[in-house]
Amino acid sequence: MSMAGDLDARAKAILLKNDRGGYTVPTARLYPYQWNWDSAFVALGFATFDRARAWWELEMLLEGQWPDGMIPHILFRSNDPDYFPGPSVWQADLGPIPSGGISQPPVLASVVRALVESGGEDDARRGAAMIGRIAAWHRWWHTARRPDGCPVIATVHPWETGRDNCPDWTIGLDAMTVPDDLEPYTRMDVKHANPAQRPSKDQYDRFVTIIKAGRDCGWDQKALTGNGPFLMADPGLYFILLRADRDLLALARRFGGETEEIEGWIEAGVAGTDYLWNPALDAFCARDVRSGAFSSGVSSVSALAFYADAGTDAQRAATLVHIERIGGEATYLMPSWDPAAPLFEAQRYWCGPLWCQVNYMVSRGLAEAGHGALADRVRDDLAAVIAKSGFYECFDPITGAGCIGTDFSWTAALWLAWASPNARNGEN
Ligand code: GLC
Repeated sequence: MSMAGDLDARAKAILLKNDRGGYTVPTARLYPYQWNWDSAFVALGFATFDRARAWWELEMLLEGQWPDGMIPHILFRSNDPDYFPGPSVWQADLGPIPSGGISQPPVLASVVRALVESGGEDDARRGAAMIGRIAAWHRWWHTARRPDGCPVIATVHPWETGRDNCPDWTIGLDAMTVPDDLEPYTRMDVKHANPAQRPSKDQYDRFVTIIKAGRDCGWDQKALTGNGPFLMADPGLYFILLRADRDLLALARRFGGETEEIEGWIEAGVAGTDYLWNPALDAFCARDVRSGAFSSGVSSVSALAFYADAGTDAQRAATLVHIERIGGEATYLMPSWDPAAPLFEAQRYWCGPLWCQVNYMVSRGLAEAGHGALADRVRDDLAAVIAKSGFYECFDPITGAGCIGTDFSWTAALWLAWASPNARNGEN
């Protein structure tokens, strides 16, 4: 078998191994539940060999939707004592399935559109049936996570951005106070992975403090956004939602849905873009909503302006300059944090490593905007680290070494759907 064929077979085997009966865990032990954006990307991988199973993954994700429209970041379909923080810590019982009390980047509409447009009648039927529920989720983002007076959506917890310990969050986390009565807890992640590659104890105290604040207000999401301990605007969430609104609009135009409302979200989104432009760095950066301060570096989600089709010509040109500069500093594009910025660490989770799901979106956006060579570099580099190291959770952008979780579902899925040579020539 060719090398690509061999890797394709291994990737399929990982998805099947991580399947828990209609939903897929990101990796055994470290992440034993269903995660929101993981499932969406995983569906793209299943779709290369079992489209019915791909839709099933998304349908199971939607089963966890709260009455207010939120789709939680984790669905606790079991109670695994090997994971912290589990359902008894979150105490977020507002949905049909025990879950976390926050959400995750809304990539679902974009994945549904991709499946519908590459599929047949069954795909159209199953995708059309989801439009109302996805719109309810987007409405939740545009209301519950839109702080008063802030021109863009924001987030209450770094975990909601999917980029847990990125240095983007340092200013917001430093502004918080950890209460003296924070309950003692035991981390499980550092038992399953190398602590040097995981978030620090101080960061974890702050992550848990935000969960306590959510519990204390009974997961009243508007209250948590308005008065919670942490409130930052994230270019990742912002660009992903803008893109997802555009994809949802395309679906609603084709199958029926609230097109005017969605158009309003897109208009408001586009109008807010400048809020995230950091003139000191000439880049889209995370921003603390209460102090107005910008984060101190360029991250991989800064490059999602192309994916969202956002920003002025000058902002996009400056973003390209950053991507090219970083491409000269790192062996593999696009690291999650700028190697030239403070707090870069090549192997610590979101402080530098390459992540396949962000880079898939970065590459797609660059390709759509006509920057084919850079788009190919991002895809080739991801393929190269997988061929070199295997299906890890993330990768050192300097050496290509694999970091943290092994046999990781979204890495396998995006290999099959995007990075594999067979995906490029349309054979997967
Ligand atoms: C980590 C990642 C997050 C992901 C989850 C499961 O928390 O930061 O993006 O969804 O693991 O893979």
